[in-house]
Amino acid sequence: MIKTPKLLMIPGPTPVVRSIQDQMARETVAFGDAGFIADFKGLVLDLKAMWRCDGEAFVVAGTGTMAMEMAVANVTKCGENILICSHGFFGDRFIDICTRKGLKTDVLKAAWGTVYTPEQIDAELSKKKYSAITVTHVDTATGVIAPIKAIGDMLKKRHPDVLFIVDAVAAAGGAESWMDWGIDVLFSCSQKAFGVAPGLAILWASKRAVEKRKSLGTIPESYFDFERWIPIMNDPSKYWGTPAINMIWALKEGVRLIKEEGLEERYERHVRQAAIFVSAMEALGFKTAASKDNRAPTLSIFFYPEGSGIDDAAFRAKLAEEGVQSAGCLAEYAGKGFRLGHMGNIDKHVLVGTIASVERACVKCGYKVELGKGLGVLQAGLVGE
Ligand SMILES: Cc1ncc(COP(=O)(O)O)c(C=O)c1O
Repeated sequence: MIKTPKLLMIPGPTPVVRSIQDQMARETVAFGDAGFIADFKGLVLDLKAMWRCDGEAFVVAGTGTMAMEMAVANVTKCGENILICSHGFFGDRFIDICTRKGLKTDVLKAAWGTVYTPEQIDAELSKKKYSAITVTHVDTATGVIAPIKAIGDMLKKRHPDVLFIVDAVAAAGGAESWMDWGIDVLFSCSQKAFGVAPGLAILWASKRAVEKRKSLGTIPESYFDFERWIPIMNDPSKYWGTPAINMIWALKEGVRLIKEEGLEERYERHVRQAAIFVSAMEALGFKTAASKDNRAPTLSIFFYPEGSGIDDAAFRAKLAEEGVQSAGCLAEYAGKGFRLGHMGNIDKHVLVGTIASVERACVKCGYKVELGKGLGVLQAGLVGE
């Protein structure tokens, strides 16, 4: 029998389309190659313009976690107060990063499946002088989205001196945010809504964040230092660390595809397709961890229907056999459901294939859904796309 190819539906890495794969397969050139320098420079300028950044954009080899450390390292110093707003596993990750750096951390935690309000953040920030706050735009463990624009508006009005650090790892390119919403450092990485393979961290720093970095003098971190990378980002013919040449080409193609689609249109597509996709899963009896008003457009946590008798590990193994790679839930959600990404360069075939595979996996695991029930809902939604 012909083997069913596996759709990569975990919440990152996401499917990498052929034209991006082709860039990774190109013959590598010297980092001093004139064509590569022009490509790299163009990519950085595009990222700056597209995300409305008045400061600097960075593309550096590394993961999302490295971007988290790079963000914190460049705009805070040991002994300062930082407020970590966490609504999940990845929000909590800032606690370790900030504590190791010698920052005085306070944590505003939202119960999993919920998110804090700007008013709650305002109340915390009013208690003492903070240098910065961190907010996770979409927490990949809960599928909940934070109200970035409303938080930015609140900060502008109520705490204009507090720097706003946003983890957009599972958001940028799939869930809307712009630097001019009052964000000081925004970061993501290649393998999520950009639809590129893992390997690159992408950061944007406001003018104010760049000034804060300058005011810190020499910082303990070397590889992460904005001051080391700014000259390279403005003139990639200079050297600091070897650029990930083929990955930079791949990201450039990813950004070209985003420009072709239009960033705003892409954000709207993610919202529409997520709603259709979730409705199809709901028709099969699955429920999202996030409530309707705080659901991320980029990924979802689907709890197994009560009484379905589905065993998590067996279901996900069956789903993989049926052609869809999914992710298990983390920490307090472990075993209760599974995670599916629906971000990046996802087309109608991918969505149809995913729901069809979920239906077959349910039936094969003994949960007797009506075949075609989820697909019908999905198809009805996709007709309008
Ligand atoms: C919101 C968020 N932040 C940070 C990270 C860490 O990124 P990485 O695994 O690339 O280090 C992830 C990873 O999934 C994430 O979803």
